[in-house]
Amino acid sequence: MSQPTIESILQEKRLFQPPAEFSQKAHIKSLDEYQELYDKAKADPQKFWADLAEKELHWFQKWDTVLDWQPPFAKWFVGGKMNISYNCLDRHLTTWRRNKAALIWEGEPGDSRTLTYAQLHREVCQFANVLKQLGVKKGDRVGIYMPMIPEAAIAMLACARIGATHTVVFGGFSAEALRDRLIDGQAKLVVTADGGWRKDGIVPLKDQVDIALANNAVPTVENVLVVKRTAQQIQMEPDRDHWWHDLQQGVSADCPAEPMDSEDMLFILYTSGSTGKPKGVVHTTAGYNLYTHMTTKWIFDLQDTDVYWCTADVGWITGHSYIVYGPLSNGATTLMYEGAPRASNPGCFWDVIEKYGVNIFYTAPTAIRAFIKMGEHLPKARNLSSLRLLGTVGEPINPEAWMWYYRVIGGERCPIVDTWWQTETGGVMITPLPGATPTKPGSATRPFPGILADVVDLEGNTIGDNEGGYLVVKHPWPGMMRTVYGDPDRFRRTYWEHIAPQDGQYLYFAGDGARRDEDGYFWVMGRVDDVINVAGHRLGTMEVESALVSHPAVAEAAVVGKPDEVKGEDVFAFVTLEGSYDPSDQLAKELKEHVVKEIGAIARPGEIRFTDAMPKTRSGKIMRRLLRSLASGQEVAGDTSTLEDRSVLDKLRGGA
Ligand code: WTA
Repeated sequence: MSQPTIESILQEKRLFQPPAEFSQKAHIKSLDEYQELYDKAKADPQKFWADLAEKELHWFQKWDTVLDWQPPFAKWFVGGKMNISYNCLDRHLTTWRRNKAALIWEGEPGDSRTLTYAQLHREVCQFANVLKQLGVKKGDRVGIYMPMIPEAAIAMLACARIGATHTVVFGGFSAEALRDRLIDGQAKLVVTADGGWRKDGIVPLKDQVDIALANNAVPTVENVLVVKRTAQQIQMEPDRDHWWHDLQQGVSADCPAEPMDSEDMLFILYTSGSTGKPKGVVHTTAGYNLYTHMTTKWIFDLQDTDVYWCTADVGWITGHSYIVYGPLSNGATTLMYEGAPRASNPGCFWDVIEKYGVNIFYTAPTAIRAFIKMGEHLPKARNLSSLRLLGTVGEPINPEAWMWYYRVIGGERCPIVDTWWQTETGGVMITPLPGATPTKPGSATRPFPGILADVVDLEGNTIGDNEGGYLVVKHPWPGMMRTVYGDPDRFRRTYWEHIAPQDGQYLYFAGDGARRDEDGYFWVMGRVDDVINVAGHRLGTMEVESALVSHPAVAEAAVVGKPDEVKGEDVFAFVTLEGSYDPSDQLAKELKEHVVKEIGAIARPGEIRFTDAMPKTRSGKIMRRLLRSLASGQEVAGDTSTLEDRSVLDKLRGGA
């Protein structure tokens, strides 16, 4: 079982000091320095963030009010005007960075491209003008459904430049999932590609867009822009569809960045919660820019000659904050790789590190566990000596995987930053600072300066060391989400009312359970709601259940996470069938494909177990705790006295 348990981590006593050589050159050089920053930020958060905003970012106009906090709604840098695309591009052009590599891109088939800051700026300006010509205005929403190619970042930055709000939908989502998100966001235009390379095959992105938009299902969409990437046959709908390269041709590269209000909406990114419908997480301009800028700078300790590589997809928050905005705002060289380890090239990540001399590498525990399985010989056959810092994100990392990463990839010389955060938080919240914080394998260590994290009970009381509780944040921070798009009530309910507000103080509840040890180190235990984490992807169990019951054969479905050695958790579905259907392997297969069609391959159930009835309480609630135990093959422990029909349990044990 790869999810850490309290027992296993209580035994974890290893401590790794930052290497002296690393600390000497780091932005934050010692634990004392961290502590000083932390204390200063705690004493006066507004001054702390305002000083950094002044020093680190460009403003067209300075703000009047640092923080306007009407719980749970925050506004940062009110009255200020700025543009994140300006901060990511224009301001570097008057420095030596003008001709520095901004984006290094490696395609899966081995093609590659490097864009300097001047070149990236030019492409972004041109594409911003293309958007304008197609009638996209400040405040409009633009859907981006793309493979991992430079045009994805260019499209995001171009939207930001003219004040359009982007909503990136991960290219692995199905046409149905794409359609729901485009409808919710009322997208006016969609940017896509004919296809993307994925594990030696082609993902037919444009075909999916066609299905999503068929029968005028998303009436707000007027135009679709298509990048030619894989060159397979696709349909181009006259008037609606245009090739990116046709429209980009000959367009002016003069497009000044629009001065945006600090609180203008920068993007919407959909994420799973414990109810069926994904939430549109809203991030705004200035606070997000500052927060991603500072976290990238201090956590990844960016130095001017570094090549920095984050392996996430731009379709997730990690790609937004730590491939595109954070690194570019810092004037860094950010690497983007289209491929994934695959049968024809399982060592491709190590090839990329060697080829570009990557210095900072940020990936997910699920990837690390997959590397462990593939074997040490792959990384050992490459020269990885350029690496100086490693990071992980997305799920708790088990200490064995941490140790392997440290030893085999980091050569026992690279600090590891285990970064805890969420789509909602905009940037990393709990993490080591690599030159300052001694690390313990499996712990995300301590909060970033300015973040007041705590572990509490349901009443909001801080709980004792080493006891499990709810992970909360006590003071607003610049990168926090502002609302759920179109549903402020849901924002309040989901994040701020779960833990009782105390003395008027609202606590942000992340949905995670955690423990804090005697050194003040946080150990994140995983979700405590009906969200599962499959290979670092967040999935609402209700979403998968809704997908299953939309199939005519399914009467009822209950989905739980099953511990998985590589993925962390896998989707396990209990299903009862409509009367006229009989369980069969064929039907199980069909149901799995149905979920793929409704949501995407990331949600494909690893196992479907048919059952005549679900274990329910007398009030009719499905007892998920029992199902979780059953799925993981454990004995059903704890109280089962509330179970309505005990024979259901026996039947479930043996399958239907
Ligand atoms: C989990 C990804 C433990 C957690 C940036 C959180 C982690 C959810 C860590 C957010 C970590 C992320 N240790 N758990 N270092 N990082 N998580 O929105 O459960 O895709 O709530 O954001 O991932 O997932 P999301």
